[in-house]
Amino acid sequence: MSKIDFFKTFIKDRDVASVIPTSMRCVKKVCTHIDFSQDFTLVEYGPGNGVFTKYLLDKMTEGSRLILIEANEDFVTELNETIKDPRVSINNVLAGDVETVLDPDQVGNVDYVLSGIPFSFLKKDRKRAVLIATKRILKDGGKFIAYQTSGHLKKPVMEVFGNYDIEFEMLNIPPYLIYDVVKNSNGAESAAGKTGS
Ligand SMILES: C[S@@+](CC[C@H](N)C(=O)[O-])C[C@H]1O[C@@H](n2cnc3c(N)ncnc32)[C@H](O)[C@@H]1O
Repeated sequence: MSKIDFFKTFIKDRDVASVIPTSMRCVKKVCTHIDFSQDFTLVEYGPGNGVFTKYLLDKMTEGSRLILIEANEDFVTELNETIKDPRVSINNVLAGDVETVLDPDQVGNVDYVLSGIPFSFLKKDRKRAVLIATKRILKDGGKFIAYQTSGHLKKPVMEVFGNYDIEFEMLNIPPYLIYDVVKNSNGAESAAGKTGS
């Protein structure tokens, strides 16, 4: 998919939230938060046309698994056409419904959730429900890594996870804040048993 096709998808679906894919510089910076020397299970919310996905597949081990969660059907078609890798599964569901596509034994055992979805577009309850589902699927010590256009996630992330680190990537359109959040059942509110919305 070209940058022009990405832009057309944005025009049809404002939840795409960005006019062009994330820059490779920003992809690399976000992915410094991932340890590629180990096998892992990573869930990606909002892969779009797969700019992160392809980088992850190049770097991750043969034993690692990548589960894509994408709401936009055009992007899902594009991903199905361009990504042929037995380590990947492509799912046309909303991030808040992630548990419906995981195997039961994957829930609570995911190492990373990487997210590019525009949380600022979600209503407060929905945002919280996505964060709670994310916390539930992560293992203890697993990481939620999100690139976002503003600091609006700080408060809900603190409420659900109780921690975050943040850094800024200015050289992207749009500039992104990169959140690095750890699931730590001792240090955060116990959200795992709550249903959200
Ligand atoms: C800002 S784009 C990021 C695309 C790509 N990851 C990149 O970095 O270029 C946001 C993506 O999230 C998807 N998206 C938005 N809301 C979503 C949701 N609730 N669940 C799953 N995907 C969603 C959009 O369709 C789009 O692909």
